[in-house]
Amino acid sequence: MIAVLGLGFVGLTVALGFAEKGVEVYGVDIDTFRADLIRNGKIPYYEPGLDDALARNINNRFHVVPDLDDVPDGVDCFFICVGSPQIRDGNADYSKTFHAIREILDSGFEDYFTIVIKTPMPPGTMNKVIVPYFKSCAVNLGEDFGVAYNPEFMREGKCWDDFINPSRIVLGVNNERDEKIVSKYYKQFDAPVVSVSYTTAEFIRYMSSTLLATMVSYSNEMAQAAKAIGDIDIAQAFKIEQMDRRWEENTMKGYVYPGCGYGGISLPKDTKDFVCLAESCGADMPLLESVINVNNKVPIQICDEIAAKVPVDKKIGILGLTFKEGSGDVRNSASARIIDRLLQIGYTQIYAYDPIANDDYAAEYGQNINYCFSMKELCDTCDVVVIATPWRQFKTVGEYAKGKPVIDCRYMLDA
Ligand SMILES: NC(=O)c1ccc[n+]([C@@H]2O[C@H](COP(=O)([O-])OP(=O)(O)OC[C@H]3O[C@@H](n4cnc5c(N)ncnc54)[C@H](O)[C@@H]3O)[C@@H](O)[C@H]2O)c1
Repeated sequence: MIAVLGLGFVGLTVALGFAEKGVEVYGVDIDTFRADLIRNGKIPYYEPGLDDALARNINNRFHVVPDLDDVPDGVDCFFICVGSPQIRDGNADYSKTFHAIREILDSGFEDYFTIVIKTPMPPGTMNKVIVPYFKSCAVNLGEDFGVAYNPEFMREGKCWDDFINPSRIVLGVNNERDEKIVSKYYKQFDAPVVSVSYTTAEFIRYMSSTLLATMVSYSNEMAQAAKAIGDIDIAQAFKIEQMDRRWEENTMKGYVYPGCGYGGISLPKDTKDFVCLAESCGADMPLLESVINVNNKVPIQICDEIAAKVPVDKKIGILGLTFKEGSGDVRNSASARIIDRLLQIGYTQIYAYDPIANDDYAAEYGQNINYCFSMKELCDTCDVVVIATPWRQFKTVGEYAKGKPVIDCRYMLDA
């Protein structure tokens, strides 16, 4: 039996994934609206596979309860999946994680249990912040309960597949007892379970994010160079590069392709936080600094290109508002940065359409733009169409644009 605190993309996937494997799972979220929706069998966000998994497991092996007082004794692991610490000016705010820890400790569970932190935290946080926090709470860490760090590598849009079919499971532990308790739950997954120190586990998670961010910025920088040199078919060049045998069957190659820059909840934050931490420890980070700079510049370059071709009194249609296709997440989406910039330049007639995220986007950004209900409506309304998220259905944009200019920022039309 396990409990999961925080039912966002990560926590809900973790909870349903373990339930699917036959584990009795209790889930809590301080957002009562979100918790109620899930209890009633509804997913609060778009994430393929989760709706079916919820239908199979809710009130069967997965129970959403108001708080930890409703979780029975005998839970082996409490997975903390709350939002990651906000880091500003080198100072991190760990209050969400502390609050979740406090709730577990105050709930009076008697049998030994392991608190498993899944929230990404900069390397060193477990040893320098989390373990000292337990000590400050005057509790018997190591005797009454233990703590492990278990980074998550799931991709939004593919959370379910990635959790159910993981490539590796990383456990940051400092004793055999916690290692045994947590790995018992992961034995049912067909993947190696690798136990390492707390800091190594934290570091691995940031290595993963920063490497992906680097590949994205490399691709965007190369695309800029290709444009400057001229007479280069950028999409074709990247496709041919990906034909190299060393990329075969390698889904990483999706990151080596130009577009609008990386976004979402993980890569921008992880890369920035990691540079901040490493530099505060005395490391020089010129490569990752450049990765961030390149990413920040992409929407500016895209808007400069649009401005060079399209007068400000024209109607511009933006196709796609989520940060990537297949996900409903609009956080840090390139579309938002492009639209902000277009508004700054002076465009006043901006229309947008996303197959699933118009409402979430409007609520998150509140920009002064108009929304369309279909690709056809957007193409009929606008003078120019900009593809900002590569939803597969946008490949047919030519049928609706009927000769109007289409600016394909994702290089998806001729790919
Ligand atoms: N989304 C991804 O694909 C992904 C992948 C890997 C890692 N991450 C990281 O994992 C973290 C969580 O991601 P997410 O998308 O699930 O975040 P999220 O913000 O959507 O969800 C966190 C949830 O935790 C709840 N919560 C906060 N404090 C709580 C408490 N004390 N008790 C119970 N519930 C509490 C919030 O109400 C919220 O619903 C993020 O910081 C992100 O960087 C995300």
